[in-house]
Parts: sequence; structure tokens; C-alpha cells
Amino acid sequence: MYVCVCKGVTDSQIRDAVNAGAESVLEVRKRLGVMSQCGKCSTLAREVIKEALETTGNTSSALFYEVA
Ligand code: FES
Repeated sequence: MYVCVCKGVTDSQIRDAVNAGAESVLEVRKRLGVMSQCGKCSTLAREVIKEALETTGNTSSALFYEVA
């Protein structure tokens, strides 16, 4: 399903990014552009990232990012 409509990012793409080494919300944002426009996807994107990180066993990563 689409998580970020603005950037056309799906939950599968987010999971793939985490599996490929993205270890934080900021890294996923940088790789995919999710949460970089309107921000309405932020809550769902964080949930998907958190679940993906838990699946990989990496739960120590920051789930927050600096707002410019
Ligand atoms: S829906 Fe993700 S930035 Fe707008």
C-alpha cells in the first residue's frame, strides 16, 4: 500500500530500505523522500519503519528526525 502519496512510496519500499541498511527515520527519508513534503504520511511511515526495524532486530535506532 502507499504510505506516502506525495512521493509515491509504499510500505514495501520502506521495508526494503530498512532491510538494505537504513537504520532510522532520517535515513529512510533521505533514501525515499518519504515525509519530505506535506508530512501527512509521518505517523504511518514511522509505524512501518518501527515494525521493519523490529523485524531486523534493530530497535535502538532513533525514530525521530530534525525538522529544518
Ligand atoms: S504524503 Fe508523504 S509527504 Fe505528503
